[in-house]
Amino acid sequence: GWGVAVVTAVASRLALHRHHLEETLAPFRLDSEQLKAVQAEMREAMVRGLQGEDSTLPMLPTYVCATPDGTERGDFLALDLGGTNFRVLWVKVGSRSEGGVKITNQVFSIPESVTQGTGQQLFDHIVDCIVDFQKEHGLSGQTLPLGFTFSFPCKQVGLDQGILLSWTKGFKASDCEGQDVVSLLRAAIRRRQGVELNVVAIVNDTVGTMMSCGYEDPHCEVGLIVGTGTNACYMEELCNVSAVPGDKGRMCINMEWGAFGDDGLLKELCTPFDISVDKSSINPGKQRFEKLISGMYLGEIVRQILLHLTCLGVLFRGQVFQCLQTKDIFKTKFLSEIESDLQRRQVRAILEKLGLPVSCDDALMVREVCQAVSQRAAKLCGAGVAAVVEKIRENRGLEELSVAVGVDGTLYKLHPHFSDQVKDTVRHLAPRCSVRFLQSEDGSGKGAALVTAVACRLAGSTRP
Ligand code: GLC
Repeated sequence: GWGVAVVTAVASRLALHRHHLEETLAPFRLDSEQLKAVQAEMREAMVRGLQGEDSTLPMLPTYVCATPDGTERGDFLALDLGGTNFRVLWVKVGSRSEGGVKITNQVFSIPESVTQGTGQQLFDHIVDCIVDFQKEHGLSGQTLPLGFTFSFPCKQVGLDQGILLSWTKGFKASDCEGQDVVSLLRAAIRRRQGVELNVVAIVNDTVGTMMSCGYEDPHCEVGLIVGTGTNACYMEELCNVSAVPGDKGRMCINMEWGAFGDDGLLKELCTPFDISVDKSSINPGKQRFEKLISGMYLGEIVRQILLHLTCLGVLFRGQVFQCLQTKDIFKTKFLSEIESDLQRRQVRAILEKLGLPVSCDDALMVREVCQAVSQRAAKLCGAGVAAVVEKIRENRGLEELSVAVGVDGTLYKLHPHFSDQVKDTVRHLAPRCSVRFLQSEDGSGKGAALVTAVACRLAGSTRP
């Protein structure tokens, strides 16, 4: 009778929804062959970049050649620009018996009008924040050596010189690309009279992370960030780095792997959702690998998929609610929250807060969408790490390599499964490397201070 007909109709509708969901998510499920191909392409792009040939990976020399040896001492200022927040830090590096590294830091917001205004506004704002910080912490009038963690691609010709190649993530301040960032900072310091600062080093966040973990573990020779953006650095043999003369020893190379695929190489892997996330970003066509992996974009990918499934009638009773059409409404931290939540209560709470009416099935499917997107990201990231550690192993002619990777970034640290998926992928793709992952504590702040401290130690003083 009627009952049976209704049940059958509901069941076949559910089956259809499942089918749509599976079909939509299938391209996100990368198999071993696909990941091996990414690893191999990454490896080739690394070599071309190091040799100065055409490559999406610029493989930037950082002029960091020595890791901390534990004898560094002194007080340093550090700046951290390019992550979730802008911060100013006061870092005291003491002996272990004095408690090691002590950090006092303060977060300052940078309004979008400043990140996307003029370069002068941006650097004036930074100096204002430093001055406030010094007043607040009784440091005014002292000229502490300063390390600047500036997490964007810079072409360095020395430790304290870095030409910004291009903004990435959400930044777009005018008149900075092609300029030396340290000069821009020094010019802002001069404009603000009565302030003296001693800028010693400019440091990428990956390098800071590697250094801060290197302070604890000398085998740490790779730095990895999976936060707002993603990137890696590692210790390369100087003889392989064509941009820097000399062939003894090693230098840390900032890969800028976020730009991998900007030549179209990842086209096969990109779904229509990735294409629209790229198109509506501030830098279309750029940072294609980063846009598949990092925190600035995963929420947007999920939102695009939810929109699509809603249009198909699979989610939210087919009603395309306004909110789903709003860019950046679906935060990447929601992926972490939703995937941590077994009862699916969180899923409903989050979606309802966004104004979406959720059924049980909706909640289940949204979680599957999040899982597919974050799993793909973690696997791609793992393929990148595998390429790096294999390169190090071959550089050294070793059968087996034991190495540690210092990691930082909100996505890596907050997501319930991301780090495990990265590790599994690396184990699978680089079986001859035994890789330990160390989470850094404030890699950007501590690391910038340590780079500065090492530079000062090598120069023979904390006030070079
Ligand atoms: C972006 C930047 C890179 C940084 C990474 C992580 O990819 O270009 O320099 O390391 O984000 O913050």
